[in-house]
Formats: sequence, C-alpha cells, structure tokens
Amino acid sequence: MTISRTRLVMGNWKMHGNLADNAKLLAGLCAGAGSIAAGTQLAVCVPFPYLAQASEALKGSAVAWGAQDVSAQAQGAFTGEVSGAMLKDFACRYALVGHSERRSLHGESDQLVAAKAKAALASGLTPVVCVGESLAERDANQVMAVIQRQLAPVLALGAEAVNKIVVAYEPVWAIGTGRTATPEQAQEVHAAIRAALQAIGAGQVQILYGGSVKAANAASLFAMPDIDGALVGGASLVAEDFLAIAA
Ligand code: PGA
Repeated sequence: MTISRTRLVMGNWKMHGNLADNAKLLAGLCAGAGSIAAGTQLAVCVPFPYLAQASEALKGSAVAWGAQDVSAQAQGAFTGEVSGAMLKDFACRYALVGHSERRSLHGESDQLVAAKAKAALASGLTPVVCVGESLAERDANQVMAVIQRQLAPVLALGAEAVNKIVVAYEPVWAIGTGRTATPEQAQEVHAAIRAALQAIGAGQVQILYGGSVKAANAASLFAMPDIDGALVGGASLVAEDFLAIAA
C-alpha cells in the first residue's frame, strides 16, 4: 500500500505568549515556512485572544492556524465557551480537542471530547483529537485499553466524520517532561490506532505524535510508518526550534 498522507507539524502554544512575543514568533514562522519541504503542513494552535493576530500575520503564508479547544455547543448561554463558528470567523482550520491538560485539569470526559470533535466538524474545522495514557496506565499495561476507551465515542461518529479528523497520540508522561516515547514505543501505539481507524474505514487519517518533540528526536519519530507528524508544545514557542522539527 502506498502511503499518501501528508505530514503535519502543529504547534500548541498552550497559555503562553503576548502580542509582542507572538509578533516575533509569527514573523519568524512566515519567514521560514517557505523552506519547509512541500508535503509538510505547518500549523499553530494559539490562545483564543490571539486568533485575530495569528490570522492577520499568517494570512497568505504556508502556516495554518487553529484553537486549543472548542465548545461542544453551537451557541447560547455557555459563559466562557467559544464555538466552532466563532473560530471559523477567524479562519481557523484546526481545533485541538481532548488535550490531556483539558482532560486532567478540566475534567473533560471521552464523551465530551467526542462531542467537541463533532461540533468542530459541523463548523467546518478539523478537530485534532488528542489521546494518551498516563505513566501509571503504561506501567499497568493499560495503554491500548485507555486509547480504545478514549477513541470509542469518536469512532462512533462514523467513518465519514472520522475521515475528516486528525488524531494526536500524546503519552501524558512525555508531555513537557523532556522524556519522549522512543520511536518504537510511539509506532506501536500509532499502528494500533491506525488499525482501529482502519476497522471503520478511516485508515488514512493523519496520526501525530506529541510529547517533548524537538529537532533532535523528530527525524527518528517521523521515520516510523504510522507517525504522520507532531503536536509540539514547548519547542513551538521559538520559531527556529519549531521550523527545525518540520525541516
Ligand atoms: P510538549 O507538549 O511538546 O511541551 O511536551 C506537547 C503537547 O502538550 O501538545
């Protein structure tokens, strides 16, 4: 089987940045994006208040942008929430859903994450569905059970929907810790996720790896057959570091 999936390298700024620092970072990304190989899509997921800044700075560039979360609701009395339609107003292409920090710090359930993915799709956004096990779950040999549980309500959205999503595998123990999964560890889980997607007819969905990705480990991760790119936290805050991962 020929693999035609394009590579996607996506930054997740988390709750970092300000207007002045963002301006420098975005300008650096625009300046460097042209030298990234064709077939690699760059994207950044920025805090909501900076979507206007990102859309202005990145318009016409090779870098797409998105949000770090999206409401499961379309509109209404949901204080603090941001809808998919609002994100589309700022020409977002992507929305992260179910990042481990949302799951663990904000109590987001697997069902809510799937509802957010569904709402994102309804607004024409590409949801990047994040899954991943904790260290305790890995040590207890629960990795695939956890991932299957997290994915189940998403897969239940059906093949047509699932073919429009991106999945990000981010082992919680590797996020922000400097401890990356080995390429083999990551590939093992990616292959299992691919099989679960394949089983419903969505085997060509992009599956990103996330968790302490940096230029020094990106090439060996990307060499794996089922790793289609990266979701990058810390190293996405410096233009050269982020571009070096994509390069
Ligand atoms: P990290 O974060 O690259 O800083 O580990 C990844 C993520 O949380 O998406």
